[in-house]
Amino acid sequence: MLKIVLCCLAVIQYSDASLVVNLESYSSSVATKINNVLDGSELYLASSDSLDALAKITVTSNGQTKTLTQLLNDVDANGYLSGFPVNSDLTIATTNSGQVTDLLNGYMFISSPDMVKDPNFLVYMLSGQGKTIDRADNLETTLVILNTRVEKSANDPDFKPFYSTTLEKINQSKSSVLYFYQGVPGDGYTNPFYKERKEMFQNPIELYPSGNPTRDTVFFNTIEPIQYTLRTWYIRAVGGGVSFDISQKWKDTKTIQTTNETTTGFIMSQHNTYTYDVMYKNTPGHDGISGYMVSTSDMASDMNVTQCNGINCESFSFLKTEPVSAVFVEYWRNDTKLQVDVAPIADFGNFYLQFYRIERGVSTGEVASSTVAPGTSTKAPETTTKSVAGLSVIGVMVVMIKSLL
Ligand SMILES: *[C@@H]1O[C@H](CO)[C@@H](O)[C@H](O)[C@H]1NC(C)=O
Ligand SMILES: *[C@@H]1O[C@H](CO)[C@@H](O)[C@H](O)[C@H]1NC(C)=O
Ligand SMILES: *[C@@H]1O[C@H](CO)[C@@H](O)[C@H](O)[C@H]1NC(C)=O
Ligand SMILES: *[C@@H]1O[C@H](CO)[C@@H](O)[C@H](O)[C@H]1NC(C)=O
Repeated sequence: MLKIVLCCLAVIQYSDASLVVNLESYSSSVATKINNVLDGSELYLASSDSLDALAKITVTSNGQTKTLTQLLNDVDANGYLSGFPVNSDLTIATTNSGQVTDLLNGYMFISSPDMVKDPNFLVYMLSGQGKTIDRADNLETTLVILNTRVEKSANDPDFKPFYSTTLEKINQSKSSVLYFYQGVPGDGYTNPFYKERKEMFQNPIELYPSGNPTRDTVFFNTIEPIQYTLRTWYIRAVGGGVSFDISQKWKDTKTIQTTNETTTGFIMSQHNTYTYDVMYKNTPGHDGISGYMVSTSDMASDMNVTQCNGINCESFSFLKTEPVSAVFVEYWRNDTKLQVDVAPIADFGNFYLQFYRIERGVSTGEVASSTVAPGTSTKAPETTTKSVAGLSVIGVMVVMIKSLL
């Protein structure tokens, strides 16, 4: 008798209780249910559509109906969106024509019940001039940024995006850990391991010193202005306060000049731009450490990240067939430049890269360079040493795959 054993691969589906829904998806004048909303959620609107169009859209839940114009300006004393409490019976209806609906750019973020219960969970709709976010006196902050579309003017270059957020004057308490993530938070957003899924930036970062398996933590006093060019992202500050100016400013990120020898910053893909340079401020004749954390899982193209110190360069290839999330690459070199090269295909997708550089003392001129092969765990990898001919640098390159999700 032949016994067939079907073995079961457990497929773990991560279910996210929060949602983003686009207004253009709902064109009916008949109340239409928005699926997957949990009881005890809150709805937040982000839109730069005309008030006339928003006035003709209503959302109803729990016996309460609101027009979207009512939700648009519903902010608390600090300028954060108040949120409209909703249950699973949430419906939406519109009297706009199909043509008007098709052109809507607005969207709604529907948070989860856990987020509603969290007093440090804030949602901000970014439009116009922006504001100063002051959470300096709070030990924990989760801030969801809902950006609104800005139309381009005739003089704008084609690579200017419709959505752009800039954070400047970031002032982070030394006791805190700051994280930036793509998209909106989902279930488990306060869990420290959750961060590895869509993380784009963190401060402090962990270093892997040569020969020392223990992690050293480096806190950066200087964070270069951060520019993010998609609709939604969110920030978490844990263990201390943070403040910054937030606006819809945009500038070409093809070349970034850093402002301090020891610094960290962020760069992401820009439409039709295939080479990006980060020029590091540096003190000639000093040693340094430089590295980056990169995510390529939204890329449809290969890319190389190259770091140069005026003597030679170290390059690492990220293939579209082997996407990575929040991978660290680090060199113990006094680099003066980081360059990203993307294989030139249209709509190559998005990369997210946090760069950092640490200035050290006067060069010691010793020869050594070690590399560490990619690992799949968060354990400190073993080190192996390879010599680099004709070079007088102490170098260590460490690659850590934090998550392949
Ligand atoms: C940064 O925040 C701290 C704590 O709120 C404050 O004392 C300090 O003056 C701020 N620094 C800057 C440059 O704004
Ligand atoms: C660079 O950062 C250090 C602190 O890390 C600070 O003392 C120094 O003033 C900064 N330099 C510039 C030019 O901002
Ligand atoms: C980098 O370090 C090397 C070796 O220590 C030194 O010769 C070189 O001048 C340094 N480069 C810069 C830009 O500081
Ligand atoms: C990346 O580097 C490799 C090896 O030097 C090269 O073959 C490839 O063309 C480079 N790709 C890009 C996008 O620059």
